[in-house]
Amino acid sequence: MSSNHERSSNPVLLVGYGLIGNSLRNRLLAGGLPVACVTRRKVPLPGCHLVDLATEAGLSALRDLLRGLRPRSVVLAHGPSDVTWIEGHERQAAHVHCEAARIVAASGVPAILVSTDNVFAGERGRYTVADEPKPFNAYGRVKERAERLILAGGNGLVLRISLIYAWTNSGQRRTFAERCLAAAFEDRPLLAPTDQVFTPVYVADVSSVIAAICASERVPAGIRHLSGPDQLSRYEFARLAYQLAGSYDPLVRRCRRRDTEWASRPEFSSLACDDFTDVSDLAHWRPMTPREGLLAMIDERRPEPAEHHHV
Ligand SMILES: NC(=O)c1ccc[n+]([C@@H]2O[C@H](COP(=O)([O-])OP(=O)(O)OC[C@H]3O[C@@H](n4cnc5c(N)ncnc54)[C@H](OP(=O)(O)O)[C@@H]3O)[C@@H](O)[C@H]2O)c1
Repeated sequence: MSSNHERSSNPVLLVGYGLIGNSLRNRLLAGGLPVACVTRRKVPLPGCHLVDLATEAGLSALRDLLRGLRPRSVVLAHGPSDVTWIEGHERQAAHVHCEAARIVAASGVPAILVSTDNVFAGERGRYTVADEPKPFNAYGRVKERAERLILAGGNGLVLRISLIYAWTNSGQRRTFAERCLAAAFEDRPLLAPTDQVFTPVYVADVSSVIAAICASERVPAGIRHLSGPDQLSRYEFARLAYQLAGSYDPLVRRCRRRDTEWASRPEFSSLACDDFTDVSDLAHWRPMTPREGLLAMIDERRPEPAEHHHV
């Protein structure tokens, strides 16, 4: 057992440095917590370890890092995360997510597994932690297996998170909100499904909650849900983005999700958000509404010209 002093100098081990990892690393460092990162591509940052979890060497490197760094906690926020890719590559995705979860659970290090609302069938909105998972797609099945491994370790938190929105960095898959705002700024038309309903959550809320849990005395074990407060369709979200960006919202046209890249998503990707008031620093926290989050994005920056976008 580490002493309090030792624990405060032990890093949080952040596995995955994408949309969540990026924002979370900054938040942890701003809060004075040391961070080590596992990344698949080379990142010129201190404390980053190049590891491909799809390989035996990578899994063994993860084991060594857990032993060698003696992290105060570990956050599993790695891919594969592309729902459409996983639909055709379930075995490969399951290998990465389940083997990493198995290793972390066996290490005894307190763990936070970032999971998803896709573990539910998506037949209705606002699933709670009392609801039974019944995955709708390959992504949901993979994440639900990883959840069970973390929970079986007895020292882990499964944090199911709804679709996150934020600006991304170069090379990352762009978020739906980013695509909406980029199109709105250029007064371009956009197709958005009316039959996919979600409870989107702003990335700053995600990193605030995970960082506060990492900073607290003890990672709570079990399952929690983290989502935005409002349930709306992708179409309604896109209309809101156009309005807030000062564009003409009828440019957002209705479509059905079966005709889009979201065909493998359930009708509802929707969670009821837990309150987290038992975590120090989160006593007064509440997730941002889509209006607040989109305005924060608009304040943060405007996108580059269209020819530099990669979709
Ligand atoms: N984004 C959301 O809306 C959301 C919501 C709920 C849950 N989640 C879950 O949260 C996790 C992270 O999501 P994210 O949006 O931050 O994903 P992301 O932006 O795609 O980042 C994923 C990270 O994992 C890395 N990675 C992928 N395959 C790997 C491998 N074989 N070995 C080591 N690292 C690997 C990626 O490396 P590269 O940069 O080399 O690709 C990247 O650093 C995923 O498990 C996802 O299911 C995400």
